[in-house]
Amino acid sequence: PKSFRIVVLPGDGIGPEVVAQAVRILETISAASPDFDLKLESHDFGGCAIDSVGDPLPPSTLKACEEADAILMGSVGGPKWGVDAKVRPEPGLLKLRKALGLYANIRPANFASESLLDASPLKPEVANGVDLIVVRELIGGLYFGARQELGAASGAEAQTAWDTMIYSVPEVERITRVAATIALSANPPPGNPLHRQGQRPGMLASEFPQLKLDHHLVDSAAMLIVQNPRKLNGVILTENLFGDILSDQSSVIPGSLGLLPSASLAGAPSIPAADAKPTRGLYEPIHGSAPDIAGKGIANPIGTILSAAMLLRYSLGLEKPAKAIENAVRKVLDEGVRTADLRGKATTVEVGDRILAVLKGLL
Ligand code: NAD
Ligand code: IPM
Ligand code: MN
Repeated sequence: PKSFRIVVLPGDGIGPEVVAQAVRILETISAASPDFDLKLESHDFGGCAIDSVGDPLPPSTLKACEEADAILMGSVGGPKWGVDAKVRPEPGLLKLRKALGLYANIRPANFASESLLDASPLKPEVANGVDLIVVRELIGGLYFGARQELGAASGAEAQTAWDTMIYSVPEVERITRVAATIALSANPPPGNPLHRQGQRPGMLASEFPQLKLDHHLVDSAAMLIVQNPRKLNGVILTENLFGDILSDQSSVIPGSLGLLPSASLAGAPSIPAADAKPTRGLYEPIHGSAPDIAGKGIANPIGTILSAAMLLRYSLGLEKPAKAIENAVRKVLDEGVRTADLRGKATTVEVGDRILAVLKGLL
């Protein structure tokens, strides 16, 4: 059988709790599939790596990630390594994304299920039928531009700190192509790519004439997400920082930040097709380490479990088990087996148990 190497980075806070559930699912799929083997290996990353070796991204972890077919991550960070700490976990994540060239971050907020409408903070008639995917540029913009820390300069400049938001035309064009590819493969097509500043005139129109393109300013887009999010149905294409903000904001429309997955890819995703080439990627829920609930066993594992489904689809080209995971998750949510963030009573492990049981019937 074909063998795939998957590096697992549980990280900090609720990371290890939610990753454990996704790992069980991947192991079950591997055991049930005679055609392929998933070889999973965990590595230190984030705050726990700072504690053990003083570096959030130890060279051995980076090397394993570079050699892997795909990476599954939990989350990093926490109060122990907060703003005053000398070494912080978050820069390790940025360094990993940059080192692997993961410029395309795909964050679907389209896991709408009518049974979840009661969990949305929006009125059911506003939340119903929302189907949007945020495509966020991930290794440019403000996060990676030149910057000056407060006190780094002398004289009058000592009182000044600054960051720069910088993009080149090729950086904008490559993420635009990814968004367009996704918009074309989304169901129902076509989607609506959106970008604050747009791209070189005509680039989208000439390469993807089938797409309808709307431009929104980010402030009014943020308003639309709570007022009438269906107006944004399709693909929201945006730069790094705005994408970070808009994706957390959109994530609660289907019910909770804990529900939504993401894929960070080094190229356009391999949309299931006979000729699709798998794309290298890192898969993680869009939420963080949730220090307020860490250790309590109540974190929602679904964002991470759906990230594992994206991993199978985009990096390993295994559409069937990916779909099976998504169908199992939907069924379990419809049954009402949910964690507290979705107004349920189930624990992290109970949700994992139930998804695993349903999945076994689908494999
Ligand atoms: P957060 O996403 O960790 O939590 C925000 C809120 O959502 C909290 O109330 C939390 O309890 C809840 N929540 C998040 N995930 C949940 C889940 N799976 N189930 C139930 N509830 C969930 O954001 P934060 O508190 O601002 O950040 C905490 C730490 O995480 C910070 O150090 C931050 O830098 C880091 N962070 C890391 C990542 C990442 O690793 N990719 C992403 C975001 C934040
Ligand atoms: C995310 C997080 C990260 C980001 C942080 C932890 C650096 O918020 O993955 O969404 O801003 O990209
Ligand atoms: Mn974020």
